[in-house]
Amino acid sequence: MKQPTTKNATRGRKAAASNSSTSKNKTTGSRQSSSDSRQSSTNTGRQNSSNTSRQDNSNTSRQASPSANSSTRGNINAPDRSRKTSSSQKNADHQSSFEGESHLEKFFLDQLQDIYYAEKKILQSLPKMKEAATTEELKDAFDDHLHQTQRHVRRLEKAFETLNQKAEGKKCEAIEGIAREVESIISETEEGTMTRDAALIIAAQKVEHYEIATYGGLVQLAITMQLHDTADLLDKTLVEEEDTDARLTEIAENDINLGAEHEGNQHGQSQGSEEDEEEDVDEESPSIR
Ligand SMILES: [Fe+2]
Repeated sequence: MKQPTTKNATRGRKAAASNSSTSKNKTTGSRQSSSDSRQSSTNTGRQNSSNTSRQDNSNTSRQASPSANSSTRGNINAPDRSRKTSSSQKNADHQSSFEGESHLEKFFLDQLQDIYYAEKKILQSLPKMKEAATTEELKDAFDDHLHQTQRHVRRLEKAFETLNQKAEGKKCEAIEGIAREVESIISETEEGTMTRDAALIIAAQKVEHYEIATYGGLVQLAITMQLHDTADLLDKTLVEEEDTDARLTEIAENDINLGAEHEGNQHGQSQGSEEDEEEDVDEESPSIR
């Protein structure tokens, strides 16, 4: 069986780069000045896996932008260890047996159950997010990710099978917390606004980053334990999560963040003019007091 991570990581990164290309020209000067963060980020995520790819990506807004929507490229485990382990285990083409007995195996299973629970929770949240979103573009993105997430659940069930373990979830407090945050966003933002979409995107990206961290770590552990079939399944999902994260960044930076800012300015102006009118009334009618 092929080693999954290096090839797939590159594919995900290239997809992300192309997703970001349209927002490149909209990147502000201040965003482009983030070379320090870009440099430091070479120690994180999937950016380490190829110098060539890193150079390719250096022109994308995704890397140039330090904005909240910009991806941090996920899990710190993912790039280096996948490359080193992949090359050192190049000839390993079988799935080792998994007993679920060692501390590491127990932890691996625990994390698999955690992300299985999380994916199912996301399946419940995404329709609400789609319903609440203002723009068609974001609704479509949530809808697409809903279908992807259904696939992620099935893939996890296959991953449990590769380990001869029953697929079951274990409550994930992190995803429960983000789901509550989504509920708050929907109740605290005005319907039909870009501000709501900007907030929903950030919440969705918190979900993605949680998933990227978990899948990234699990892929590396699976490779280390020579669970190659399991690693291959998890890595496919990891790539899709990264692509979704990049797509959300693009959507935010194309129009929504600017639209939300514009709404904020309008609100400030209308509030200001109302206050001015009140002051005028007060000056003209001091006796009202
Ligand atoms: Fe997912």
